[in-house]
Amino acid sequence: MYLVIHGPNLNLLGKREPEVYGNLTLEDINQQLKDLAVDLEIELTITQLNGEGEIVDCIHQALNDEIEGILINPGAYTHYSIAIRDAISGVEIPTVEVHLSNIYQREDFRHKSVIAPVVKGQVSGLGLNSYLLGLRGLVSEVW
Ligand code: DQA
Repeated sequence: MYLVIHGPNLNLLGKREPEVYGNLTLEDINQQLKDLAVDLEIELTITQLNGEGEIVDCIHQALNDEIEGILINPGAYTHYSIAIRDAISGVEIPTVEVHLSNIYQREDFRHKSVIAPVVKGQVSGLGLNSYLLGLRGLVSEVW
């Protein structure tokens, strides 16, 4: 079983700054992830959480649920949440970080990810494909 965590404000996708994040809704992205999961013959559970503590709890729960890999878009927490970073490094579950937008092309405060040092890899700037490629990478585990 693999886990997808969408962080804060991603429930607003489709309405939120479409020039930055595109027109797809979170449901559209989730449907594409589910279709890919069928192709990859994996089970997927998907959640969206706005709270930092909720995300930390969800990552801890992943350990109990024997989750094999986590695909996470930490949203704005990417840039400052040491708590989420520590949760990821603490559970030692292979994790891939994704962003719809290219965080390195945007405001200076988005250029740093405190999550990046504790994940297998990061996909940023490819919209829906950030998620789809991230999931493929997580599942294929060729590292
Ligand atoms: C984001 C980029 C973050 O900087 C921003 O706060 C988000 C979304 C992305 O997917 O591009 O909420 O993670």
